[in-house]
Amino acid sequence: MLTMDDIVREGDPVLRAVAEPVNFPLSDEDKETGQRMLEFLINSQDPEIAEEHELRGGVGIAAPQIGISKRFIAIHLHDDNDRLYSHILYNPKIRSHSVENACLGGGEGCLSVDREVPGYVVRSARVTVEAFDIDGKPLKLRLKGYPAIVLQHEIDHLNGIMFYDHINKKNPSYLPPDVVVYE
Ligand code: NI
Repeated sequence: MLTMDDIVREGDPVLRAVAEPVNFPLSDEDKETGQRMLEFLINSQDPEIAEEHELRGGVGIAAPQIGISKRFIAIHLHDDNDRLYSHILYNPKIRSHSVENACLGGGEGCLSVDREVPGYVVRSARVTVEAFDIDGKPLKLRLKGYPAIVLQHEIDHLNGIMFYDHINKKNPSYLPPDVVVYE
């Protein structure tokens, strides 16, 4: 199983690289790595396993965060209606996004960042994501709210972008008008 020892922290150049697309059919290695990433998230949300293995809770992880510069991510989270979003997504792409923007009132965190970085991370309120699943089947996700934010955070990792790149440098608590804030 993956533990925090496997998580690459900020400062490592792999987090600033543009990751390479995966090829289909997927190699066993790419499939197994994706499954291990999802398993890490599930473990990290289990209080007993997380405590035993000192895992920080996570809802999303991208392959570059375990040192693999390839375009795949895993997410495991519930939305406000308790709907579960649990996916391994290969070559995910934001196909379209809303004009309306949104952010989390408490800011964002990242498994690769061992410090609090305060400030609003303004993102699209809604996104349509296209990707391939572990069997190579195309899938399309239309997301809003928290899941949309998480997907954008993880896809950013595939492009070498960290969440704090989006924070207003002069005034981290500056909020542009008409941004929806999720508390
Ligand atoms: Ni992150």
